[in-house]
Amino acid sequence: MDVSKAIKERRSVRNFKPDPVPEKDLLKILDAGRWAPSSGNTQPLELIVVKEPKTKEKLAKAARGQSFVSEAPVVIVVCANIPRTERRYGERGRNLYVIQDTAAAAQNIHLMAYALGYATCWVGSFHDDMVAEVIEAPEKIRPLAIIPLGKPKKIPKTPSRRDLENIIHENKF
Ligand SMILES: Cc1cc2nc3c(=O)[nH]c(=O)nc-3n(C[C@H](O)[C@H](O)[C@H](O)COP(=O)(O)O)c2cc1C
Repeated sequence: MDVSKAIKERRSVRNFKPDPVPEKDLLKILDAGRWAPSSGNTQPLELIVVKEPKTKEKLAKAARGQSFVSEAPVVIVVCANIPRTERRYGERGRNLYVIQDTAAAAQNIHLMAYALGYATCWVGSFHDDMVAEVIEAPEKIRPLAIIPLGKPKKIPKTPSRRDLENIIHENKF
């Protein structure tokens, strides 16, 4: 699929068919995350792949009751291994780069999933401590995004974007 098609046509989908995601496709989707850029190639990415119904339900609860999270056959918890980046970049690595690194990986995951005919949603509203407990994250492994993944039941309309000319600033803000 053309990259511009994936960028423009990917939507945040909040309802999923129960059909399982074949391992071959799942691995391609996860691998897209691995190929994202990262600060100094420190690669803080850690991916928790959840298929157990009970664990998915706990994640939905931790995501402030967003029940569509547990509807998806697979839920990916995108985490940052903070020491990997902090070791090289200190406070900036801990507070900024790990977030950028994992966000880049998350977006690659969304785009690859879409290109392979799947739907995802970026879920960022969750209780950090609850998610960390559900996935048994060691200290310094920070969950940064939850991505439910599966075949869509219904694709929502395209939400509008700000006009390009209103966000481009030439030379100065
Ligand atoms: C950092 C971040 C956090 C988000 N958190 C949630 C969330 O908790 N629940 C949800 O339903 N959508 C969430 N979204 C999805 C946005 O609502 C969605 O991307 C936006 O409305 C634009 O729609 P589109 O992705 O279909 O273009 C989040 C997106 C981002 C980037």
